[in-house]
Amino acid sequence: MRTQVGIIGAGPAGLLLAHLLQLRGIESVVLETRSREDIEATIRAGVLEQGTVDLLNESDVGERMRREGMRHEGVILRFGGENHRIRLSELTGGRAITVYAQHEVIRDLVKARLDRGGPILFEVKDVSVLDLDTKLPKIRFHDRDGAVQELACDYIAGCDGFHGVSRPTIPSRLRKEFTRVYPFGWFGILVEAPSATEELIYAYHERGFSLVSTRSPKIQRLYLQCDPNDVPDSWPDARIWEELHTRLAGSDGFRLAEGRIFQKGVIAMRSFVVEPMRHGRLFLAGDAAHIVPPTGAKGLNLAAADVRILAQALGEFYASGRKELLESYSETALRRVWRAEHFSWWMTSMLHHFHDESPFHHRLQLSQLRNVTESRAAATMLAENYVGLPFDKD
Ligand code: FAD
Ligand code: PHB
Repeated sequence: MRTQVGIIGAGPAGLLLAHLLQLRGIESVVLETRSREDIEATIRAGVLEQGTVDLLNESDVGERMRREGMRHEGVILRFGGENHRIRLSELTGGRAITVYAQHEVIRDLVKARLDRGGPILFEVKDVSVLDLDTKLPKIRFHDRDGAVQELACDYIAGCDGFHGVSRPTIPSRLRKEFTRVYPFGWFGILVEAPSATEELIYAYHERGFSLVSTRSPKIQRLYLQCDPNDVPDSWPDARIWEELHTRLAGSDGFRLAEGRIFQKGVIAMRSFVVEPMRHGRLFLAGDAAHIVPPTGAKGLNLAAADVRILAQALGEFYASGRKELLESYSETALRRVWRAEHFSWWMTSMLHHFHDESPFHHRLQLSQLRNVTESRAAATMLAENYVGLPFDKD
């Protein structure tokens, strides 16, 4: 088999890259270890930045998102038992976030790809990358029938997430990795209940962080800070509700609507970056190259920003033979990556309870929260980062 760009992984990064390349007339093949049903059902992110929304719309895959996504022009920070609203749109010249689940983005991208006749090979196994330092690198894998296949490519995009095979292909002496693991996780649930709030609530409490998000008027997405070693069974329903009510209690009478919990999961919290995001003809994008804790809602958006830059660079190469944008891909992408790394770390540090920190630290967190909600300059900094920096800054 032969293609122009071999794409490993059908997450948001891989599928969007394939789509953006197809719009430019560039051929690619997407390889994915899981089934279509599985990738379309995995519950993950929910918040799209303005730039991600614009990119999906401009590339003609935004139709359902425009109908079903929920545009939010503000976000709430809750502490001291009260809500404090950050006016996102007012502070950023009209930009906003859109709540639209990652698996819905995946469904839209898979459909767009298959409708246009683009190949996605699901349920492949034993994927490996060969001949990276030649002009014709290859991806070897077992197809779903177990036959060994080799895909020869001009370029390979490693979009296979944090645990994928692409990143380790780069010799360790040629890559630098930066990591921070946080001493807590998030316990996430999906609940059948009406929304208790019109905008997302990021809540700080001495017992730990919690987040009230949504998926639809009838389905809510809630998270609470937990022990990183917890498992779904650590949290019977009654314990979840008690903890959420306690962490969200306040003088304003706010109360979450309870309902049937139909999904539970624990999410690890980590910051990670690999530099550079390229080795020879292999380009890393999305979680394969970097991870952020979910507090800033940046992971999916960074994946989209990476592949936008990569599609442009590959587009220029195939149109004119010029390689400058391919050469600068890693440096360009890393500027946004590090901004998002800092923002996600900062939001996480401001909003979580650190068991090993003193009351001094707790007072600093509260002071920071007050500053961010009372100072227009500080609120603008949060708002600009949360809705996402415009692409023309890349
Ligand atoms: P992935 O989505 O991990 O996709 C990689 C794909 O590659 C997978 O389908 C995998 O099966 C496949 N794969 C792996 N290994 C191989 C292999 N060897 N061969 C072939 N295929 C392979 N981000 C936000 O922006 N906003 C949010 O609100 C947000 N909330 C989150 C909440 C949770 C609970 C979690 C877990 C994450 C959240 N994120 C959020 C982060 C976001 O989900 C990820 O950053 C995003 O999925 C990254 O996309 P990706 O395509 O790079 O990687
Ligand atoms: C979500 O709705 O899943 C969500 C929202 C905001 C975040 C993280 C996740 O920061």
